[in-house]
Amino acid sequence: MPDFPAEPYRIKAIEPIKLIAKDEREKKIAEAKFNVFKLRAEDVYIDLLTDSGTSAMSDNQWAGILTGDESYAGCRNYFNFEKTIRSITGFKHIIPVHQGRAAEHLLFSNLIKPGDLIPSNTHFDTTRANIEYLKGEGVDLVIEEGKDPARDHPFKGNIDLGKLEDLLKKHGKERIPFGMLTVTNNSGGGQPVSLENIKKTSKLFRSYGIPFFLDACRYAENSYFIKVREKGQSQRSIREIARETFSYADGCTMSAKKDGLANIGGFIGINDDKLHQAVTNTMILFEGFRTYGGLAGRDLEAIARGLDEALDEAYLAHRIGQVETFGQLLKGAGIPIVEPTGGHAVFVDAASFIPEIPRDRFPAWALTVALYREGGIRGVEIGGVMFGRKDEQGRDVFPPMELVRLAIPRRVYTESHFRYAAGVLARIADNKKSVRGLELTYTSKLLRHFTAEFREL
Ligand SMILES: Cc1ncc(COP(=O)(O)O)c(C=O)c1O
Repeated sequence: MPDFPAEPYRIKAIEPIKLIAKDEREKKIAEAKFNVFKLRAEDVYIDLLTDSGTSAMSDNQWAGILTGDESYAGCRNYFNFEKTIRSITGFKHIIPVHQGRAAEHLLFSNLIKPGDLIPSNTHFDTTRANIEYLKGEGVDLVIEEGKDPARDHPFKGNIDLGKLEDLLKKHGKERIPFGMLTVTNNSGGGQPVSLENIKKTSKLFRSYGIPFFLDACRYAENSYFIKVREKGQSQRSIREIARETFSYADGCTMSAKKDGLANIGGFIGINDDKLHQAVTNTMILFEGFRTYGGLAGRDLEAIARGLDEALDEAYLAHRIGQVETFGQLLKGAGIPIVEPTGGHAVFVDAASFIPEIPRDRFPAWALTVALYREGGIRGVEIGGVMFGRKDEQGRDVFPPMELVRLAIPRRVYTESHFRYAAGVLARIADNKKSVRGLELTYTSKLLRHFTAEFREL
């Protein structure tokens, strides 16, 4: 087991959770049409659905909530928010939004025209959906190692620079209005991107005159990986690494529900004055006035304080250690996972865990159902339901991996919760026949995993 530091905090408030009886869970999952998004949270024992917006806030953040200035325009918390984020990122304009996908919508709707291509290592589901909504196409160019759960590589979130250059050469800025990198690469196993890769990506985009944006939700965790895994970085502070990371970009979208340690919120960082003006005009229609962007003053304060806390090295060492330890517990129980573990979750490789279930019967989704049934645990499928689609001939196209993401909320669960979860997976491994393939009975066009309904086979 890795030797990782104990929690650099103690627990001051608790929230009771309970495991409902097995026959009740059976009933609840059937009522939810075998989609864990449709369960009531109170029927879940350990909720590993997402690390987004699920953090426990600190006493300092809760104290900040009471200083909320709820004026419509120019509230004092906005100026603290702006100052904090500018000092971390260096971006000229800091625009608050209510969450990450709002940042995507506002930015993209000012940049994308039909037929445009947007390259990235791997676009997150809402990012891809926002691109497609505007009739653009997201192009995922993660390195080959990043598509193989068993391959070891310190930065499996890196973009393939050769493939990126080919795309830029072929389509140029006429069809590529901007490029992105997701740090860490959530849909590719929460894997980090190296500083060198970020720097070279930026250089490539700039050589074609194409703006480059970071999807920065987990930039602090990514900076920690750079510190501990990348040559020559170990003596630098997380803040210095983060600042250099942002210096290579022309802007960013950010969901503060991750490395902002807040329950809601996000921002856009932009250097370009014209683009800033355009986004400001759009946001009044969708998000609110420029200084609150769909958030209360108290939320802006919680985010500003949370962003500072998430850069603390002791916090990050514990957090990344906790994820690694959970991964080791699963490996010890013989469960195949994406290795090495990434920043915010352990990803179970469902395709090799249950090879008996074919891809068109959604093995990773079937495992999310089994986890709830067996132990009241909620995880999320990142596989054929989330990213699968039909091609022009009506044939199924599946993403490279069939994963179940067990995301770890920040500062919420302790090691005994993870021991319990590993025990549940071990029981499923002993009785794999209980995991049943599924057939889709309802699906929406975009982001179908949120609303999909199934029949068990
Ligand atoms: C990489 C990435 N980008 C964007 C988003 C969207 O953020 P939000 O959920 O705040 O809209 C998420 C959320 O999980 C994410 O992980």
